[in-house]
Amino acid sequence: MKTRKIAIMGFGTVGGGAYDILTANREYIRNTQGIDIEVRSILDRNSAPLSARGADVSLFCSSADELAGDPEIELVIETMGGVEPARSFIIKMLEHGKSVVTANKELLAKHWCELEPIAKAHGCGLFFEASCVGGVPIIRALGESFQGDKVRAIYGIINGTTNYILSKMSKEGCDYADALKEAQALGYAEFDPTSDVEGFDAAYKLSILGSLAFHTCLPYGRIYREGITKVTARDILNAHDLGYEIKLLAIGKRDGNSIEARVHPVFVPKDHPLASVSGAFNAVYLNGDFVGDLMFYGAGAGAHPTGSAIVSDVITALGGKKKYCDFDNCGKLDGSMELIGDFVSGYYICVTVDDKTGVLSRISTILSDNGVSIKSALQRAENNDAATVVFLTHSANEHSVMHSLQSIAKLADVRSIDSMIRVL
Ligand code: NDP
Ligand code: HSE
Repeated sequence: MKTRKIAIMGFGTVGGGAYDILTANREYIRNTQGIDIEVRSILDRNSAPLSARGADVSLFCSSADELAGDPEIELVIETMGGVEPARSFIIKMLEHGKSVVTANKELLAKHWCELEPIAKAHGCGLFFEASCVGGVPIIRALGESFQGDKVRAIYGIINGTTNYILSKMSKEGCDYADALKEAQALGYAEFDPTSDVEGFDAAYKLSILGSLAFHTCLPYGRIYREGITKVTARDILNAHDLGYEIKLLAIGKRDGNSIEARVHPVFVPKDHPLASVSGAFNAVYLNGDFVGDLMFYGAGAGAHPTGSAIVSDVITALGGKKKYCDFDNCGKLDGSMELIGDFVSGYYICVTVDDKTGVLSRISTILSDNGVSIKSALQRAENNDAATVVFLTHSANEHSVMHSLQSIAKLADVRSIDSMIRVL
């Protein structure tokens, strides 16, 4: 059996995880898949990550030109992260006829349209299962499993770091900063965790998943995005009191030619399957017109779950398969499609007011004047003659709620609007 040689660019959490699997299961893969895979070179800044992982330091390579020029290497795994130099290195490998397997959702969401034609022009595959939802084979499922269905909606917990933080805050009352530090130490967070906590990472992934699900290009820059940094311990307590968990959700919906795409914290009812997805686990809840509801669940981040997705792509690519996305309107929404900004949702609103007669009624009147109907309300007395008022609304238009909040903020006895979180 011919040995197939590959290289890894970026030997950190994910690159190292993929290497572990390729090494530990080499014989198993040879026996079950009929492919013998050897890691011939590893590119990183220096050889320290190789020694740390027990890899042969003679595999170390510091030059992408050297990798590209090695005729024996037929495939390269990119697990460096970030846009540059990952983008230039990938282009170099494709131009030298090497297929690429990447976990880099930021690069894909921003440069998909540039990379795909280069891969095609050079007859190479560009694979990215590991870019979304860690070890869960959602990219393959979207591409190869419901070809006859129209996907109507995706609701996903697709960032492991934020789910880990929110779960720690919810279950253990852990402090936000401590939980983030733990997620970083466990290898879940991005190099700059702002990408996780401000929802960029989830928006990149929603751009990829939504594009595949809705068969149009969903530009990440047009996705409404809000992170978890404003979610407070009090919001979490209020959510529990009202029967909810708070999750960062990525939501994509298609109705005819209208698409809704947003990433933000959501009150998820405790009996919804997404409410019990904890820690670094991810889940994608999907509705297709004939298949109905499906949920994909598994480890959304980490060395070995993500490494598993990488290795699966490597085997598929070496088996001769190509992977492209084939969007005619790469980089912009198809002309026939409209991305809508005003959506309908339930809302949780938390306001601090002067504890005086009539405040609740004045706020209720504003909501009612804007067509926002209150589902439930609770009031708690606080120190300094203040009170916290919490409302849950029935489904309402986003713009009506925003308009109401602007008016509520102007009331003399309203001290602050503390939170507004959408409700699933
Ligand atoms: P790490 O930071 O752990 O690993 C990246 C490695 O690449 C590091 O060793 C880094 O070196 C090296 N590297 C970065 N830039 C260069 C460069 N210019 N030249 C040479 N080496 C370089 O990142 P992760 O493994 O966590 O993430 C890698 C990719 O996988 C990212 O795109 C990420 O979004 C994606 N991903 C990560 C997941 C996870 O669970 N961590 C899950 C799914 C996808 P140094 O440390 O010195 O900078
Ligand atoms: N930082 C990402 C996350 C890694 O936390 O989900 C997996 O893509």
